[in-house]
Amino acid sequence: MKKKFINVSEPKLSSKTKDYVLDCIKTEWISSSGSYLESFEKKWAKYCNMKYAVSVTSGTAALIVALKALNLKPGDEVIMPSFTIISCALAIIEAGGKPVLADCDLDTWCIKTDEIKRKISSRTKAILIVHMFGHPANIDEIKEIIKNKKIDLIEDAAESHGSKFKNKVVGSFGKISCFSFYVNKLITTGEGGMALTNDTSLYNKMKNLRNLAFNKTRRFSHNEIGYNYRMTNIQAAIGLSQLEKITEHIKIKRQNTFLYNKILTSYNLPISLPSEKQWAKSTFWMYGIVLKNKKMTAKTLSRKLFDNKIETRPLFLGMHEQPIFKKMNLFDSDSYPNTEYLSKYGLYLPSGLRLNKPKIKLICKTLKSILSGK
Ligand SMILES: Cc1ncc(COP(=O)(O)O)c(C=O)c1O
Repeated sequence: MKKKFINVSEPKLSSKTKDYVLDCIKTEWISSSGSYLESFEKKWAKYCNMKYAVSVTSGTAALIVALKALNLKPGDEVIMPSFTIISCALAIIEAGGKPVLADCDLDTWCIKTDEIKRKISSRTKAILIVHMFGHPANIDEIKEIIKNKKIDLIEDAAESHGSKFKNKVVGSFGKISCFSFYVNKLITTGEGGMALTNDTSLYNKMKNLRNLAFNKTRRFSHNEIGYNYRMTNIQAAIGLSQLEKITEHIKIKRQNTFLYNKILTSYNLPISLPSEKQWAKSTFWMYGIVLKNKKMTAKTLSRKLFDNKIETRPLFLGMHEQPIFKKMNLFDSDSYPNTEYLSKYGLYLPSGLRLNKPKIKLICKTLKSILSGK
C-alpha cells in the first residue's frame, strides 16, 4: 500500500461552520459588519475574561494596532523575546518603538524572566510576552518585575488559545492581548486576529486604527495613519463555529501530546519532549521536540522525515539572526544561546486536529528508526 503523506497541521471545521457561512451568503452580510462579527468579538472577549475586542485581519495586525495604541515616542523601548515570530518586532517598529530582545527559557520556550531583568531600563515602556507553543509565560514573575513601574504588559497569545496560568486563561493578564486565528491555530478564521483590552481608550484607539483612522466628526478626514484591518462577517462566522469547539480542540491537542510523549519516552531517544510547568495548563499547540545530543540538526532530521512522508516545520529563527534586522543593525551584539539552540535543533512534528493514534505511532516509529538506526 502506498504510504500517505502526513501533514504538519490541518484545521477541523464543523457542520456549523457551513451553516454560519451559508447564512452570511444568504443574507448577503459578507463584509466587515454583521451579527457574526459582533457575536465572535463578544464571545472571544468573554472566553478570555476581557471587556473589549477588536477583530482584525491577522495576528500581525492585532500586534500592530496594540503597539500603535500605546503611543510610543522615539527612543521608547519594548522588551520582547528573541525566540518568536517576526510579527512581534515588526509591530514595535511600526509603532515607532525600539525592540529589545530577551532570550528564552529552555523548558517553556517563553521569554526568560532573568533576561527581562537584565534588559529593563528607564526607556522600557512595555514588555511584549509570547505564550509559546501553548505554554504560558510565567506571569507572576513578569508582573513582579514591572510592579510599581510605568511599564505595560502586552500578551501575544496567538499560539495559546485557552492555555492557563494558575487556572486563569492567557490573554487575560495584559493591558492588551493579541491573538491569531490563522489556519494552524487552535481555533481559526482562515486568516484573522483579535486584540482584547479592558481599557476603554485603548479599545477606541485600536478600533479606529483598524478602520483607516477616520475622524469621528468628518468622514474621509484623518489625523493619523490607520490601516484597513477589518475582519469580515464570513471570517467571524467561521471563528464562531470554531469557538464552539474550543474545548474539544484543546482535548485533542493534549491527548495527542500525551500519546506522543508516552511512546517517545519509552523509546528513550536523545530528544527533549514538551512538558508543562506545575503552574501551567498548556494547550500544546504544536508538538515540538529538540535534539539533545546535537549529533544531527533539525534540518537534517526534517529532511529524513520528509523522505518518509512526514511533514515537519522548523522552530523560529532568532530575531537577532534575521537578515533584515542585521542589515538594519537593529539589535545589540548580545548573545541568545537558548534561541540559537532551539532554532538549530528543534522542530515540530505533525500536530493537526485530525491526527490519530495510528499516525502518531507511525511517526514515532519512523523517528526512532532515524535517530537510533533501528
Ligand atoms: C506567536 C505568534 N504571534 C503572531 C503571529 C502572527 O499571526 P498571523 O500569522 O495571523 O499574522 C504568529 C503566527 O501565526 C505567532 O506564532
